[in-house]
Amino acid sequence: MQHFSMAVIPGDGIGPEVTNEALKMIKMVEELHGGIKFYSEHFEWGCDYYLKSGRMMPENGLEILKDFDVLLFGAVGAKTVPDYISVWELILPIRQKFQQYVNLRPIKLLRGLESPLRYKNHEDLDFVVIRENTEGEYFNSGGRVHEGTPYELAMQNSVFTRFGTERILNYAFTLAEKRKKNLAVATKSNAINFTMPFWDELVKEISGNYPGVQTRLYHIDALAAYFVSRPEEFDVVVGSNLFGDILTDLGAAIVGGLGISPSGNINPERAYPSMFEPIHGSAPDIAGKGIANPIASIWSVGLMMDHLGHNHIGKLIVDSIEAVLVDGKIRTPDLGGTATTVEMGEAIISKMAQLAVGHHL
Ligand code: NAI
Ligand code: MG
Repeated sequence: MQHFSMAVIPGDGIGPEVTNEALKMIKMVEELHGGIKFYSEHFEWGCDYYLKSGRMMPENGLEILKDFDVLLFGAVGAKTVPDYISVWELILPIRQKFQQYVNLRPIKLLRGLESPLRYKNHEDLDFVVIRENTEGEYFNSGGRVHEGTPYELAMQNSVFTRFGTERILNYAFTLAEKRKKNLAVATKSNAINFTMPFWDELVKEISGNYPGVQTRLYHIDALAAYFVSRPEEFDVVVGSNLFGDILTDLGAAIVGGLGISPSGNINPERAYPSMFEPIHGSAPDIAGKGIANPIASIWSVGLMMDHLGHNHIGKLIVDSIEAVLVDGKIRTPDLGGTATTVEMGEAIISKMAQLAVGHHL
């Protein structure tokens, strides 16, 4: 029997609603496989916890999490707490302190879904965005002075280290080597004239170690446009923290919306736990209605299985999601249907049980 420990942080808004469905998927994986067991512990951290305690997580929160094999995260954010607090005191410390420097986000048009890009099909929309996840523009450095006066000013520093940049680029090049050997790099070295030329130089330097990979630099603004006009060009895309964040919401939009797209916050060295979560936020506009799409959260479990070395289970999860979408009967409102979160989740989970027949997991 293989045992994994998993910390579950459902968070705010639709976070707990979609995480419930992801947990059912994990149960189903245990049942179908028979030799894997998840020992899970739940943590009710988030904005409600903040309102009671003045903190998003306990002071020793990271200490508590650090020995788990994996973390399953829902979403953070509520109207009652400023976003810069909820994000900076829960999700960003986990990503940064646990060196989850790879934020891996598949952009893949699943069968059964239509892209708003009418002329593109499934083969055209299948790439992975690798977002730097520990530094860059989301770095806790800056300040404000002369508040409330006409001289007021705010500064936020972007920080790019050689160490941080090299390790994310190496990860992206290695992944490109395993896929179609085609790496697109987001930059903006024409206007951001210190950090981005540094980034470009390191791309050039490192590309020498991966002679088989075709590398191309794109300015971020053009790259955003190409995601829409010629997505078939892309296989692996790598970007800084901010660029990767924006590109992947756009990526999600061209393959069916935020309700679909999963992510892994990965520490490749496995010195710390990696964390899996939908890319969407807490969606306060639909929270509590039971209609959030659980696909992104369930697919995140698929990425978790890949990370744990069970790629065939990861694939089976994606196949099950696709099969339900191809059937087309059960869809949440974001996909034009009327199904609830639970109906959608359960359809995928029972499809998985059907598809697993005859598979050796
Ligand atoms: P959001 O992703 O929560 O919502 C954007 C839009 O997408 C909304 O219309 C929402 O209803 C829809 N949507 C999102 N997920 C959906 C799902 N599973 N099914 C159906 N529809 C879905 O982004 P927004 O509105 O910018 O932020 C809301 C809160 O979430 C803020 O407090 C923000 O800081 C936080 N946030 C947290 C993230 C995280 O926990 N990793 C990521 C992004 C935002
Ligand atoms: Mg985002």
